[in-house]
Amino acid sequence: MELLHQKIKQEGVVLEGGVLKVDTFLNHQVDARLMFEIGQTFGELFAESGVTKIMTIESSGIAPAVMTSLQLQVPMIFARKRKSLTLREDLYTERIYSYTKQEESEVTVSRKFLTPADRVLIIDDFLANGEAALGMARIALQAGAEVAGIGIVIEKSFQPGRGKLLEQGFRVESLARIASLEDGEVTFV
Ligand code: G4P
Ligand code: NA
Ligand code: NA
Repeated sequence: MELLHQKIKQEGVVLEGGVLKVDTFLNHQVDARLMFEIGQTFGELFAESGVTKIMTIESSGIAPAVMTSLQLQVPMIFARKRKSLTLREDLYTERIYSYTKQEESEVTVSRKFLTPADRVLIIDDFLANGEAALGMARIALQAGAEVAGIGIVIEKSFQPGRGKLLEQGFRVESLARIASLEDGEVTFV
């Protein structure tokens, strides 16, 4: 994914606390051509994985996830985020703690969109501590579905997310892996 690496180098802005701002093409303004190529790449990587559903969390995971769903010709589901929620029987619900934002959110998926027959490919824009991906995996498991793999656009490899996901036996494919954001510089693995 040469284009993704170029975009990160040219347009990424390194903020305090090891945060990379990429709002020109991923987190606010969206580059559709780049998202299309991201979908093609995940499509190739997971072509033989028997994927039946793509799952992400709103909002920034939606663009890469929908392009992947276009390639693999399976539906895409985005988990919805809520601050708090009275328990509802027709929803799978998981709590996800964000270290970056220092807040917990509840994410939900309607029971009608996941079944034990599903093999779910989890897609997300960033992998930092791995909590979002693990929360999605727990939703898949609640449904009795299998996790076919996890596809990440930008992995911050200096944070523990990748290790936590591998430890649980998941296949992780990250299109850009950042080794360091020190001194305002992006260094890839
Ligand atoms: P984790 O899921 O891997 O544990 O990550 P964490 O809780 O630390 O991240 C919470 C939110 O911050 C997520 O977005 C995640 O994508 C985003 N994030 C983490 N590190 C970075 C970074 O370096 N740069 C950017 N731009 N985002 C980062 P979210 O709350 O789900 O928001 P949304 O943008 O998807 O709506
Ligand atoms: Na995000
Ligand atoms: Na996200």
